[in-house]
Amino acid sequence: MSRAQARLSPEARPNDLEAYWMAFTPNRAFKKAPRLITRAKDMHYYAADGRAVLDAAAGLWCCNAGHNRDPIVAAIKRQAEELDYVPAFQFAHPQAFELASRVAALAPGDLDHVFFCNSGSEAVDTALKIVLAYHNLRGSGARTRLIGRERGYHGVGFGGISVGGIVNNRKFFGSLLTGVDHLPHTYNREQQAFTRGEPEWGAHLADELERIVALHDPSTIAAVIVEPMAGSTGVLPSPKGYLQRLRAICDKHGILLIFDEVITGFGRLGFAFAAERYDVVPDIITFAKGITSGTVPMGGAIVRAPIYNAFMHGPEHVIELFHGYTYSAHPLACAAGLATLDLYRAEKLFERARALEPKFADAAMTLRGLPGVLDIRTVGLVAGIDLASKPDGVGKHAYAAMEQAFHEEGVMIRVTGDTIAVSPPLIASEDQIGEMFAKIGKAIQAVR
Ligand SMILES: Cc1ncc(COP(=O)(O)O)c(C=O)c1O
Repeated sequence: MSRAQARLSPEARPNDLEAYWMAFTPNRAFKKAPRLITRAKDMHYYAADGRAVLDAAAGLWCCNAGHNRDPIVAAIKRQAEELDYVPAFQFAHPQAFELASRVAALAPGDLDHVFFCNSGSEAVDTALKIVLAYHNLRGSGARTRLIGRERGYHGVGFGGISVGGIVNNRKFFGSLLTGVDHLPHTYNREQQAFTRGEPEWGAHLADELERIVALHDPSTIAAVIVEPMAGSTGVLPSPKGYLQRLRAICDKHGILLIFDEVITGFGRLGFAFAAERYDVVPDIITFAKGITSGTVPMGGAIVRAPIYNAFMHGPEHVIELFHGYTYSAHPLACAAGLATLDLYRAEKLFERARALEPKFADAAMTLRGLPGVLDIRTVGLVAGIDLASKPDGVGKHAYAAMEQAFHEEGVMIRVTGDTIAVSPPLIASEDQIGEMFAKIGKAIQAVR
């Protein structure tokens, strides 16, 4: 065997965990006690030792249809055999158009056009670039200022971390985009603790947008971007009336409104998009994750017709938007997306999530009163459980709960800081919802 062949051989470095630099993971802690998954089906993962682990996180907020669903697997297989790749620039394949039409049909109002990419981070950067280019094309090139929100998560691209508001995701990475402001986050434990659904308190925080607008003048502001439910920061549902108020202020000043629905899209809040739940039509919706139920990477931006139409001018042979990715509308992702949307429809999974919401909230609230539980918030099929931080470090308590849950209780949860996030696949049965909160409760007791 040549040296090059030896390097390619899978036996080259058996069982070596060192080379893989894991994403958003404490690598050294993980490599001491790995949580390795080798298989999945429906509501369960299977650990390397064969143990079933109930998935209370839909992977990473993405496997909304459950795992390894036969129709999705079959569609991906078929597609891989038939057409592996088509250039995304200047060429296309039919499924890309079909999926765009299907996604646009799910979105409210005149959100009629879909730009595809491969992740939520790319979706956000795509949306930010579209709004800047749009204002430019319309002769409002001074509208460059972007407004995000404290505690917002919009992925890890430079655009996303600039409008995002999670300190650790920003502080190491230089000056970021200039000309960005942040709305205040909407969480206030005194006013909102143990709320089911949208909190009564907090709509007035949208008025902070007026203050920012007054400071800079509306003519300089391009867009506002928010998550309808801030997920990655620890589950912060929008206060009642908040999104409507943001929409009204944006309309008043000609500012575009972007809903980042990377988590809230595809049924998580009981509707295709949270925009429908809140009866607010944003100018752009970003999506990813649930579009393929996590099976093949895909993301995108759904854009209102007037924005798309503003680009469709000038000589027809000239590219209208200088933006795109090699793997935009990849055939495997499109096949997975179409099969996933079919499954959501056939099994009425969005409606199912809506119907389960009260029972899910009841089950989550059973953990109230456990040692160290400071707050529980629920909306749709999402719950956030705040644990009191340990004196020796923020995040240690929830990390211990996650390890305990995985290794001892057989349930996968997601943690951020000292908050546990629960967001199961939408196929979860009532029994499984009860089981997951019972197991999480035991894990919380064990690490008190
Ligand atoms: C609201 C939101 N936007 C963007 C992203 C980034 O998505 P990705 O990790 O696919 O880049 C996420 C990921 O969790 C998200 O929750």
